[in-house]
Amino acid sequence: MSGSLNTLLSPCQIPASKSVTNVWTWVDGRIRTMISVVALVVCLAGLVWSLDNGLARTPPMGWLSWQRYRCNTDCVQYPDDCISEKLYMRMADLLVSEGYRDLGYKYVNIDDCWMSRNRSKDGSLQPDPVRFPNGIKSLANYVHLKGLKLGIYEDFGTKTCGGYPGSKFYLQQDAETFAAWGIDMVKLDGCYTDVSDMDEGYPIMGFYLNQTGRPMLYSCSWPAYIKQKDFALYQKIAKYCNIWRNYNDIGDSWDDVSGIIEYYGKDGGNFSKVAGPGNFNDPDMIILGDYGLSYDQQRVQMAMWAIMASPLLMSNNLETVKPESKALLQNRRIIAINQDPLGIQGTRIVKMNGLEIWVKPLAPKGKSIAFAFLNLNHGGGPSKVSYPLNKLGAMSPQGYNVTDGFTGKLIGTYKSKDKVTVMVNPTGIFLGVANFLGQ
Ligand code: GLA
Repeated sequence: MSGSLNTLLSPCQIPASKSVTNVWTWVDGRIRTMISVVALVVCLAGLVWSLDNGLARTPPMGWLSWQRYRCNTDCVQYPDDCISEKLYMRMADLLVSEGYRDLGYKYVNIDDCWMSRNRSKDGSLQPDPVRFPNGIKSLANYVHLKGLKLGIYEDFGTKTCGGYPGSKFYLQQDAETFAAWGIDMVKLDGCYTDVSDMDEGYPIMGFYLNQTGRPMLYSCSWPAYIKQKDFALYQKIAKYCNIWRNYNDIGDSWDDVSGIIEYYGKDGGNFSKVAGPGNFNDPDMIILGDYGLSYDQQRVQMAMWAIMASPLLMSNNLETVKPESKALLQNRRIIAINQDPLGIQGTRIVKMNGLEIWVKPLAPKGKSIAFAFLNLNHGGGPSKVSYPLNKLGAMSPQGYNVTDGFTGKLIGTYKSKDKVTVMVNPTGIFLGVANFLGQ
């Protein structure tokens, strides 16, 4: 079922397949909630709810604390690096002053370890009082006044991965708390729960988020916890979540980046096919500006996350990002490929001798493409890569202008049977854009 956000606020819109017993397992365990959910299920048993909150029409962009700042709660030894309201306020300031916001990096996302170890007496989540003395609502106001959005982290299980209170038995209450605080994105992790519960629990949390009436982008870690993933599962996930992690956590290394690219290249269960406006696979954070990648490898991450239509959530210290990394993060051409309105996830079409070729159709459909020649080899010097445009799907007899996706420089004008030939550095990339020359 599709519709505007308003149409989603009907109390009868809940996954129709829920049995009362299952719902009981998932929701708070409080009588009030059970009764209301039972009533919802009964009142429109035939109606199938789906997420259609109008968000993530293109991959979301912003900043997320986890990879760079982890669960550092020691504000005595690390006053600038601990998970605290000061950190998020500083990053919000930098997103604006360094020009990121105006390029689309709008979300400032809190990750794990923001909470107090205990819920309040009425069961509400509360932030750590020392590290967030003004509370999350005040932080959300601060961020909103800067034209930014605030994301938050919770977990579907009894605890977050870092051991803080999870949402199990409090789903509705937590969704309402997030809405009252003015949250704009919720990342719901999947530690400390039975994986078989996710199939019903994640949709229910999505329902509660929508029921608040506040548009909150819903980021699900659901598929990352499921070993065997097929197309039907991805279709279901795309129905209930805006974005979803489906693979391992990224660390600050080339092995992590190349491992994720390989996973996306294999595209098990054809997950690329469910991506589109409103729904995107999330290969995890951007690590440009950290310590682990060479300049060429940073180009690879940026270009490949654009080709894969991936969320661009940086996890770095925006204060110390080197100019060359900042230039890549702020490259308008790459951002435009990532944010292309068709929202098609690019796929790998060739993998041979450490070289890969990837293609992402761009708008206008059938006329422009972005493509990548990726060299995963570590040794020696640049490799020559040569490939005909028509095999990339650029078939027009009128021909194409091919430009460098990073610089916009014209590489050449080609007929569709012509080969584009370029040199590609080790653990490096050539990103091309082929624009149709006809009408
Ligand atoms: C999991 C997630 C990470 C991060 C941590 C926090 O590992 O995949 O992205 O949120 O939990 O504990």
